[in-house]
Amino acid sequence: MAYSFFRSLLFRLDAETSHHLALLGMKWLHRLGLLSRIFPKPAPKVTQLLGMQLENPVGLAAGLDKNGDYIDALGALGFGFIEIGTVTPRPQPGNPRPRLFRLPQAEAIINRMGFNNKGVDHLINQVKKRRYKGILGINIGKNFDTPIENAVDDYLLCLQKVYPYADYVTINISSPNTENLRQLQQQDELRDLLTAIKAEQKLLHQRYHRYIPVLVKIAPDLSEQDVTNIAEIINELGIDGVIATNTTISREQVQGLAHAQEHGGLSGKPVKYNSDKVLSMLATQLAKEIPIIGVGGISSAQDVRDKFSKGAQAVQIYSGFIYRGPELIHEAVDACSR
Ligand SMILES: Cc1cc2nc3c(=O)[nH]c(=O)nc-3n(C[C@H](O)[C@H](O)[C@H](O)COP(=O)(O)O)c2cc1C
Repeated sequence: MAYSFFRSLLFRLDAETSHHLALLGMKWLHRLGLLSRIFPKPAPKVTQLLGMQLENPVGLAAGLDKNGDYIDALGALGFGFIEIGTVTPRPQPGNPRPRLFRLPQAEAIINRMGFNNKGVDHLINQVKKRRYKGILGINIGKNFDTPIENAVDDYLLCLQKVYPYADYVTINISSPNTENLRQLQQQDELRDLLTAIKAEQKLLHQRYHRYIPVLVKIAPDLSEQDVTNIAEIINELGIDGVIATNTTISREQVQGLAHAQEHGGLSGKPVKYNSDKVLSMLATQLAKEIPIIGVGGISSAQDVRDKFSKGAQAVQIYSGFIYRGPELIHEAVDACSR
């Protein structure tokens, strides 16, 4: 109820302005102690994932809080875990505006933000200041002007910097908005990248006496053969987990709608079909001990049940949260069986 009121005001503004206003508003409501009165948290449904204790299995997906500027307010809403980023080694402005579009008839979003972020050092400062005690994932990427052949350097630098502050780290190789990034999902590139990441994780584990799981986030636009190749490499290298999926470049589900032809990644209800397909394929091919976080198109309790029945051990939401607000967190948590 409260959220539909805020939403009706915010949706009158362009998508990116309302995004910033909503986050800023939440931050202030939280500082004034009002956020959790207006939007009470769901009761805990404690879940173990990769040795971490999640307050519940419903997390916030990457990209809403790219810089870690809103961790406490988002934590107060009752997400079971929060993923911040994608962060890159150096700050970068991202693509020119407009770069964020709502497709309300489809409860969808198209974005071509292009990893706009204030850089990894800023994010770490924000993480150090947080009061939120829950599980915090940090999603890392490469700068737009780092040649793809040198991408591994950017990922390693971010991994080294965030390792002491993260509960888990996500390697984002699936954003459609950084040129050639998704090439890193191809067999040889993926093996090289993940071998280097795994070796660095081992060194960091020894240095900090703390093992931080590394997950890989993949696209929904993958063929069965692509998924087979990816699963094989993940099994072979012992990558800790997979996040499936990012946004899609397909427009099949939104043909004819305003903004459908904008370039970028499509998220929300229309990505669910492809995300679920990739999730199912992956679940049959990954070693049993490697968990999958299911993300893409969750906007109801049934969508959450679908992700679990197809093999997810936890879920994340983004676009559904924009359309439905904190009510969706409650509904999603209720749908998770213990
Ligand atoms: C505006 C916007 C920005 C996003 N930015 C990122 C990002 O920086 N890194 C990332 O891994 N995923 C990013 N995503 C993808 C989401 O984390 C999620 O994987 C995707 O939107 C599918 O989930 P949904 O249908 O619940 O939105 C972004 C999504 C949106 C809508």
